[in-house]
Amino acid sequence: MIPNTSGSIPADLDRWLHANDQRGMDDLFAFLRIPSVSAKSDHNADTARAAEWLNASLTRFGFASEILPTPGHPIVLAEWRKAPAGAPTVLIYGHYDVQPSEPNELWTSPAFEPTVRDGKLFARGAVDDKGQLWVHAMALAAHLGARGTLPVNVMVLAEGEEEVGSVNLAHFIERNRARLACDYVVISDSAMFAPGIPSILSSLRGLAYFQIEVQGPSGDLHSGMYGGAVVNPAMALARLLATMHDARGRVAIKGFYDRVRAFPAAVLMGMKKLPHSDARFRKDVGVKALGGEAGKTTLEKLWTRPTCEVNGMLSGYTGEGAKTVLPAKAMAKVSFRLVPDQDPDLVEKLLRAHIKRVAPPGVTVTITAMHGGRPWRADLDGPLFDAARVALAAAFGRDPVIVGEGGSIPVVGDFERILGAPVLLVGFGLPGENAHAPDEWISVDNLRRGMRAMAVLYDALG
Ligand code: BES
Ligand code: MN
Ligand code: MN
Repeated sequence: MIPNTSGSIPADLDRWLHANDQRGMDDLFAFLRIPSVSAKSDHNADTARAAEWLNASLTRFGFASEILPTPGHPIVLAEWRKAPAGAPTVLIYGHYDVQPSEPNELWTSPAFEPTVRDGKLFARGAVDDKGQLWVHAMALAAHLGARGTLPVNVMVLAEGEEEVGSVNLAHFIERNRARLACDYVVISDSAMFAPGIPSILSSLRGLAYFQIEVQGPSGDLHSGMYGGAVVNPAMALARLLATMHDARGRVAIKGFYDRVRAFPAAVLMGMKKLPHSDARFRKDVGVKALGGEAGKTTLEKLWTRPTCEVNGMLSGYTGEGAKTVLPAKAMAKVSFRLVPDQDPDLVEKLLRAHIKRVAPPGVTVTITAMHGGRPWRADLDGPLFDAARVALAAAFGRDPVIVGEGGSIPVVGDFERILGAPVLLVGFGLPGENAHAPDEWISVDNLRRGMRAMAVLYDALG
């Protein structure tokens, strides 16, 4: 059950993790039972409870931990600063908030009742990100439990607003820049390329998210009495959305690609060598054909190219049967994934100019910016990445691969910019993990290997 890492993990740490395996799982179950859904205000008490739970756990492990309020959900900041003089300081970041669990009827077991089936731990937050945050907590606890000390100074910073855009975090880091000063930032909030293949992230896409509203007549109209003479807002919105891409699958907003910086040839070459199969990918997501930009490979599209997506649409009658109505308004949630050096604020300007150009007369279009985040690219040299390679190899029995990522963690760029420290992104999820979807899971084996890998990482950095 528990991974045999053939003596590559220091025996005292491995022994502690063995001895505390069940206790650690029970604790993680308790964490996962708290429905800390940051997007929903009726869960605010639960979100606060998750912060308190984490704070208490880190305190029990030997950290000086406190809950720091923000205008939104609080931040948990735990510190241990008794490493030998000259030892580096590591800041570990994660988030204790989760996405909403809906649609609940599609879960095999309830979202907030953690359940293990086939070596997978199912629960909302299992992989994103409570389980991965817990990997670090246990790795740190192993050091403090087995040795009474850590080879590095450590801060654990966990926020409760990642899933709603980390709106207060950049400001918090700015204000606490001196206290948060560190040599390295480590984050586990992503996935491995494939089972058994440990992975280091070299890039994240950024995000610019908008709500687009199209207002037509002042109220809903009889579609027979008015249709044909009054512009239909749902049709207007559909037309408007259809202008977002050209025939080759590129985003057709003027200037959108101006800031896109090519990925280094070595990174692109590395991507081509990864064992990816389009047929398999199609099957995994359940489609007959793939889309997107012509002339790019799937991994290139996912990791190195910006996109425009519709996340949701709402208009008119959507209930049972047929209702003849010309709706008064239509709405779409539209987001852009961005790559270096695109900028969310600039994308907003370009989008507004584009909509102004293509909006049909007879309706009023309003754009509201929701949240955004900058794209990020790692510089994979230096002691942090060397240590990560050693640590992952020790726990997984093979060298890690370098991967990109299509998702976004907005704060990563802020850490680098404000604290001036390199960021290591090393995740323990797996393809098909159902993050943000029903039946989210994390591999129990990855949890255990992850704990061992991170325990070795702190050794290697110390
Ligand atoms: N952990 C994810 C981001 C992620 C997913 C990184 C997969 C690497 C691999 C994070 O919790 C998330 O969901 N981010 C949001 C952005 C946020 C602003 C809502 C995303 O990517 O949609
Ligand atoms: Mn996450
Ligand atoms: Mn997420």
